[in-house]
Amino acid sequence: MAGKEPFVYIDGEYHPKGEAKISVYDHGLLYGDGVFEGIRAYNGTVFRLREHIERLFEGLRVIRVNIPLTKEQVMNAIVDTLRRNNLTDAYIRLVITRGRGNLGLDPRSCPKPSIIIMTEPVLPAHGKEARERGVTAVISSLRRDMVDGTSHEVKSLNYIQSVLSKFQAIDSGADEVVMLDHRGMVSEFHGSNLFIVKQGIIHTPTSAAGILHGVTRARVMKLAEELGYEVRERDITPYELMTADEAFLTGTMAEVVPVVKIHGVAIAEGKPGPVTKEIIRGFQRIIQDPTEGQSLSLPRPEPTKRDRLNTSSEHSMRNPASDSCCSCSLPGTAYLWVSYFSR
Ligand SMILES: Cc1ncc(COP(=O)(O)O)c(C=O)c1O
Repeated sequence: MAGKEPFVYIDGEYHPKGEAKISVYDHGLLYGDGVFEGIRAYNGTVFRLREHIERLFEGLRVIRVNIPLTKEQVMNAIVDTLRRNNLTDAYIRLVITRGRGNLGLDPRSCPKPSIIIMTEPVLPAHGKEARERGVTAVISSLRRDMVDGTSHEVKSLNYIQSVLSKFQAIDSGADEVVMLDHRGMVSEFHGSNLFIVKQGIIHTPTSAAGILHGVTRARVMKLAEELGYEVRERDITPYELMTADEAFLTGTMAEVVPVVKIHGVAIAEGKPGPVTKEIIRGFQRIIQDPTEGQSLSLPRPEPTKRDRLNTSSEHSMRNPASDSCCSCSLPGTAYLWVSYFSR
């Protein structure tokens, strides 16, 4: 791909990066109405591709966007985009927006979602050296929303809270920023999940603290258990974070990075700890393992039985204005928001 513009997939067609455009009337732009995934390919394998696509489809279900592709078709489109761009190591950005509509926010004016795939050779967010030296963080004064508000469990296109928090890190000369939930409990970083180590046990906040269900987080929890560590999902106070033996973050963009200072307070010795280093070594091994994702050289994914029952095409008649789904007995999503809107 050297010297050549990468191709961007938009709704089944490939466009050179400079010509890849969608409408200014797209509600993804006008209202942040859509969901996305950040995914990585390592050495010809798209890491945890199925897990990312499962999360994407969960988000689509909650925001009630029906795309005309099955999970396998989306996976195939990602594989094809990487192949077309000759990329074996890449960062992949998959974006689904509500699509073009009118200027009002009524989603019913958007008949056709936009499906976009960008692939580029992007390095880990803090650079590879961050694995050795760790990063610093401040605590944001902005709180993650309550889980019955604009739930951050949906990986939506609205990241303004994270962006404003990132400014707080920039203004204070820190690399990262920790988000607290509405109670003041530790939630996550502005774009990655958070772990602490205390007396040899690994702890991480639960979904009740408004975290995104990170794909890296889930794999790191499994890895930690494979390495013989106990992992506890629980509420963590800022005090517990600052007095932890070790802290680290996980995410597709950053991978696994030690956190050595929080709000001016050094974590233990202010250096990456032994458990974190072991997790980083394990993670670096895992991402090179072709069984950890979808290989670019193997046949493309086939639908599983569960997927056949759960593909978007079977839900394509879902009316965004109604609460129930087409011909199946799935309940729709309005119940999720009922308590919120009836307050
Ligand atoms: C807010 C937030 N939390 C956590 C993560 C980590 O998730 P994953 O490991 O799936 O990349 C991300 C990734 O983009 C994120 O934006």
